[in-house]
Amino acid sequence: MTINLVLGTQWGDEGKGKIVDYYSADVDYVVRFQGGNNAGHTIKVGDEVYKLHITPSGVIQGRIGVIGNGCVIDPEVLIHELNDLTKRGIKPQLLISDRANIIMPYHKILDGAEEQFLGEKKIGTTKRGIGPCYSDKISRNGIRTIDLIDPDTLEKKLDVILPIKQKILDAYEINNKLDKKEILKAYTDFGKQLKSYITFTHIELNKAIQKGKNILFEGAQGTMLDVDYGTYPYTTSSHTIAGGACIGAGIGPKHIDDIIGIVKAYTTRVGEGPMPTELFDRTGKHLAEIGHEFGTTTSRPRRCGWLDLVVVRQSCMISGITKLAITKLDVLDGLKDVKICTSYMLNDKKIDYFPADIKKVEKCKPIYQEFNGWDKINKNTLKFSDLPKNAQKYLKFIEKKLKVPITIVSIGPGRNETINV
Ligand code: IMP
Repeated sequence: MTINLVLGTQWGDEGKGKIVDYYSADVDYVVRFQGGNNAGHTIKVGDEVYKLHITPSGVIQGRIGVIGNGCVIDPEVLIHELNDLTKRGIKPQLLISDRANIIMPYHKILDGAEEQFLGEKKIGTTKRGIGPCYSDKISRNGIRTIDLIDPDTLEKKLDVILPIKQKILDAYEINNKLDKKEILKAYTDFGKQLKSYITFTHIELNKAIQKGKNILFEGAQGTMLDVDYGTYPYTTSSHTIAGGACIGAGIGPKHIDDIIGIVKAYTTRVGEGPMPTELFDRTGKHLAEIGHEFGTTTSRPRRCGWLDLVVVRQSCMISGITKLAITKLDVLDGLKDVKICTSYMLNDKKIDYFPADIKKVEKCKPIYQEFNGWDKINKNTLKFSDLPKNAQKYLKFIEKKLKVPITIVSIGPGRNETINV
């Protein structure tokens, strides 16, 4: 039995899809435990490309996908993904937690309205209704999957919630009348389509653990978007760290064997908020172009910069990361020099932690370690020792500074462009 957890250590988009695919080989279950369709995973199988936002990617390889209680689900998007997979010859095996919260139409409208109201101070959300849905969950006004298959309860809840939401929409001067009948009909219909998948996934998963099954937990976003440990308020609204898997799937921490932190060889972020190593020069453009740094969900260009070990060190600590997978190393090919940020200067003081105060983060100036670059990584490289010497130095430095072993180096999007260290 192996139970592994794959997490992003930066601001998301670390290339988790490929590493999840790699670790999915022998697993029975692939579990999403937080987030919703703000995430985007691209999976290539032969010539086929699959883009999934809420369905756990393992269903493509015939694994049982689980959407845990910690997730928020837009049923329309989920049904669309499931229908698309079925059309393409994949019969998804899926279990959806009866406790997961549902993204309702007013969540999506409010996400947009709040962002517009914030103007220059906006978060830069994906506008998928994620934040408003999690807010309702915590304030106990949420609609859960179990409610979709019980029209009476759904109606009673809507009777309480809709007038409140209407007041808020009116206050934002949004000309949108929430129609209870329409919403009730649409969401009851979604419930009918999803009913066969909805179950107590936490019990199923704990039974699977007792039976010695192999399970992979698939994190979405990254540590710096965690609602507590990220660049708050420029974060998502869920727990993207290892602890999030226990809460969001209902399993005890002692069951997890390895916690694999995905580290992109440089840094990217989408949306607003500080990013100390951001580059505004030719190198930043190089990383964006060569790395195809555009959001899978919103197609927004990603901000790019040097690798920031203050960020990754914090991720390793908070999540107890046991192994590292370095992705997109090849994107650094051809750069004369490459840099890694090891600490920050803040008001003439050297610090090696990430401040909670956003105003302080904005003032942090990265302190870099410089390395000579390398020409081109041979995509057929199978061994660490066959990588260019300077690339090896770069990786060894990361490992030494983080005190966590690198076990995978990805040098391209293909399955075979992967080095096992
Ligand atoms: P939300 O999750 O849509 O509320 O967006 C909050 C912040 O998280 C924004 O800066 C988004 O760009 C960012 N974000 C959400 N999901 C992802 C993701 O999968 N990758 C990268 N950034 C994300």
